[in-house]
Amino acid sequence: MTSLVVVKLFHWIYQWRNPKTNGQLPPGSMGLPIIGETFEFMKPHDVLQFPTFIKERVLRYGPVFRTSLFGSKAIISMDIELNVEIAKANHVPGVTKSIARLFGQNNLFIQSKQSHKHVRNLTLQLLGTQCLKLKMVEDIDLLARTYMEEGVKNGRLDVKETSSKILIECLAKKVMGEMEPEAAKELALCWRCFPREWFQFSWNIPGTGVYRMMKARKRMMKLIKEMVLKKRASGEEFGEFFKIIFGEMEGGAEKMSVENAIEYIYTFFLIANETTPGNLAATVKLISDHPKVMQELQREHERIVHGKTNKEVGLTWEEYKSMTFTQMVISESLRITSTAPTVLRITDHDFQVGDYTIPAGWIFMGYANAHFNPEKYDDPLEFNPWRWKREDMGSILSKSYIPFGAGSRLCVGAEFAKLQMAIFIHHLFRYRWSMKKETIVLRRFMLMFPCGSHVQFSEDTKVDNSLCYQS
Ligand code: HEM
Repeated sequence: MTSLVVVKLFHWIYQWRNPKTNGQLPPGSMGLPIIGETFEFMKPHDVLQFPTFIKERVLRYGPVFRTSLFGSKAIISMDIELNVEIAKANHVPGVTKSIARLFGQNNLFIQSKQSHKHVRNLTLQLLGTQCLKLKMVEDIDLLARTYMEEGVKNGRLDVKETSSKILIECLAKKVMGEMEPEAAKELALCWRCFPREWFQFSWNIPGTGVYRMMKARKRMMKLIKEMVLKKRASGEEFGEFFKIIFGEMEGGAEKMSVENAIEYIYTFFLIANETTPGNLAATVKLISDHPKVMQELQREHERIVHGKTNKEVGLTWEEYKSMTFTQMVISESLRITSTAPTVLRITDHDFQVGDYTIPAGWIFMGYANAHFNPEKYDDPLEFNPWRWKREDMGSILSKSYIPFGAGSRLCVGAEFAKLQMAIFIHHLFRYRWSMKKETIVLRRFMLMFPCGSHVQFSEDTKVDNSLCYQS
């Protein structure tokens, strides 16, 4: 009996290490049974460097290799052409089981091709250029200005936290319409406390990260639902998003129930909140470490404020578009901090790459290695916004630039994120500021700021009185 168990166990371990496929797998190791290579993969690393895990394996196996992470079989690729091909040919997002749980099984972003297309179109209606132009600039400008002034009064502010507040309040308004300030604050506060350990094994048992995330998910969904139902009962006006949804329902198109809509908003807030604030804080850190970039930004934002004929009017779309150097800084920051996979898919059919087969059903993680290719970017490890001088700043995707992914799941919030980052930088440069020396930016798949992301304002903080908008 014992020998039978031992044989079965060895057989199982053998199968774990040598998964069955229809062809030859890319080289690599599946690591320990179940755990795979998860712990090595998740070691924090400097944001401007690829993790040692990746560097070592690329040297050992080449640009495409296999592994096992969070209980799933995975292929990691540093080959941009393959990444873009996989991004175009496959539709299912390559999220781990823990993230699938966090998003929810009925999530329209994941459920089917059709539901995905529907919510994507809806999102683009909310966050497309036209909409940003008409309304969002004003909302973000007002929020950024208000929070910046509050920070100045306190002598400091945390960039990531402040950006998260701005983002949630701005999106909440867009989705729900005007909100009581208290309700808006409560929503923003809840999001800030949302657990950040997205990448986990999927066991939902007390004490685990997934358990904490699922509890937070339940609380968030409940809060959003209560807000929506209260607003609906009192006949208050909703934001654009719910107007579209309720309009669709009244038109007889059963595309989305209120429950679906709430889950969609939740997902949307979740992704937005996990990306832009961290990227902005990392950008501010890069700026503060590069005095020449600081000076050039100072010049650009002084010019914008001096050029205003009516000081009472907030920032305009045209002024945003004239922030050429700021946009170069943002593009460069997104290039150099893209040291995590930006294309995530589950392959829906076997895919042949040279002699190797990427099997159907595996998670595919495509890294933006091209961002560090010296043939594409001179001195690629240097933070040099000037390299973008002759580039099209409106572009969020090219053959050698994929910070927002590619294919059918290309980020829908890219323009909105860039707008928010630029407006925040604009208001920051109305004051004399410095980032705390101890600030460090790490990655553990997601961006991490173990010492916070505080900027402090000097005593004579206004750069020039004439630079201040009248409030
Ligand atoms: C600097 C900030 C941001 C970065 C770097 C970023 C990056 C990405 C990446 C890499 C993807 C995956 C693409 C793929 O797998 O091919 C993605 C998808 C997505 N992003 Fe962003 N993102 C940012 C901001 C935002 C914001 C602000 C929102 C929402 C307001 C947003 C909403 C989404 C959504 C909904 C998806 C999934 C799209 C789909 O499945 O069709 N993102 N983003």
